[in-house]
Amino acid sequence: MDLNSLKVFDIINDEQKRQKNYIELIASENFVSENVLKAAGSVLTNKYAEGYPERESVEKFIKEFPDYVHSGSVGRYYGGCENIDRLELFARYMFQKVFNTDYHVNVQPHSGSSANQAAYMSVLESGDTILSMSLENGAHLTHGSPVNFSGKQYNMVFYNVDSDGFIDYDDIERKIKEYSPKLVLAGASAYSRIIDFKRIRDMIDSCENKPYFMVDMAHIAGLVAAGDHPSPFGLADIITTTTHKTLRGARGGLIFCIRELAKKVDRAVFPGCQGGGLQHIVAAKAVAACEALSDEYKNYIHQVVKNSHAMCEEFKKLGYDIVTGGTDNHLFLIDFSKTHPLITGKEIQNLLDEHGITLNKNCVPNEKRSPQETSGVRIGTAAMTTKGFKEKDFIETADKINLIINEYYKNKIEG
Ligand SMILES: Cc1ncc(COP(=O)(O)O)c(C=O)c1O
Repeated sequence: MDLNSLKVFDIINDEQKRQKNYIELIASENFVSENVLKAAGSVLTNKYAEGYPERESVEKFIKEFPDYVHSGSVGRYYGGCENIDRLELFARYMFQKVFNTDYHVNVQPHSGSSANQAAYMSVLESGDTILSMSLENGAHLTHGSPVNFSGKQYNMVFYNVDSDGFIDYDDIERKIKEYSPKLVLAGASAYSRIIDFKRIRDMIDSCENKPYFMVDMAHIAGLVAAGDHPSPFGLADIITTTTHKTLRGARGGLIFCIRELAKKVDRAVFPGCQGGGLQHIVAAKAVAACEALSDEYKNYIHQVVKNSHAMCEEFKKLGYDIVTGGTDNHLFLIDFSKTHPLITGKEIQNLLDEHGITLNKNCVPNEKRSPQETSGVRIGTAAMTTKGFKEKDFIETADKINLIINEYYKNKIEG
C-alpha cells in the first residue's frame, strides 16, 4: 500500500478506536453489524446501474417471491445489471416486509436529504407551499431551512409546538386552512414524543383541496419497524427515511409511496436528483432490512426505548429540565436555560467530548441562543444499546454527566 493510502487507513483505525472507547449518545448514530459493513465494502461499488430493474428481472423475481408487490419504473441504462436488478428488488421486498406494507419502495436515495429532495420533487413544483414543523422545535434542515434547498425552492410555512414542547395539532389544522399547502410534512430530528399521524391524516382528509401527506420517519423508522411507534403506512402518501439511525443500516435513504405515485417518485430520484445508485449501499440496506425482521432486532428496539426512558427519568430526578417532561422514543432533550443559564449546549457538548462522551447541542423550544450555541442538548440511546447498555448503564452515564456538568458549572460561577 502506498504511504498516502496508509494515512487513510491510519485515520480509519483512529476512528474505530474512538467509536470503541467513547460513550456514543448522538441520537442519529448507531453501530452497524459486520454483515452490513461487509456489504457496504463489497465489489458492488464497481457497478453502474442507472435506472431501475428491467421488466424481465421483475417478472423472474415475482416468480420466486410472489408476495412482492411491484410498482414503479423499469429499465436500465447500462448492461450487466442482472445481479443488481435482483439485489434492488430483494431490498425493496425486504423493506416491504419490515414495514408490513405494499407501498412502492425506492431504495436508491444516497441519503435522507436526497430522499426528501426527490420526494418533494415528485409531487411539487418550485414555489409550492409545504407546511412543516418549525426548525427550532426539532425539524430537519430539509424541512425548510432558509439555507437549504427546501427553504430556497419551496414556500415553507411552519407549525409550532405548544409551551410544553408538544406538537400543536390545532396549529397544524389552522395552518392547513390558512395556507392551503400542497404538502403537509410530519417528522423530526429532535422530537421525543409520539407523532399522531392519524390525526394529521384526518385533518387532511377533511380539506377541500387535499394536500399530500408526507412523513419523514428518519429517526423513528426502527421504532415503527418494531411496533414501538405508530406506523405512518396506510396514512401518508409518501414516507422517507434514513437507513442509518434506529434502523441500524448503512448510511443512506429510502422513499416509500402509495403505488399511484411510484413512477413519479422513481423519476424524481433518477434522473431527477441522482445518477447511478450506490449499489454496495443498496446491498448494505438490504442486509439491515433482513436484520430488522429478526426478533433480536425487535427486542433491541424495545430496549432502546426502555433505556431512553430510564436515562431521562434519572436526569429528571437529578433536577434537569427535560423538554416535554419525558420521552416516548429513543431520544430526549435537556433544556439548560433555567437550571444552568450560564452554559450553552455547545459548551456541554465540548466538555463531555473531553470526558469521552459524545452528544450534540440542540435548540430548545423558545430558544434564545443561536443554533451554533443553543441552550440544550439531545441525547439518544440507540447506539449504546447496540453496544449492550441496559437501563442501569444509562442511569450511571446520566450520573456521570451530572457530576461533570456540576463541577464545570461550579467553577464557572466561582470564576
Ligand atoms: C428527520 C431527518 N430527516 C432527514 C435527515 C437527513 O439525513 P442525511 O443526513 O442522511 O441526509 C435527517 C438527518 O439527521 C433527519 O434527522
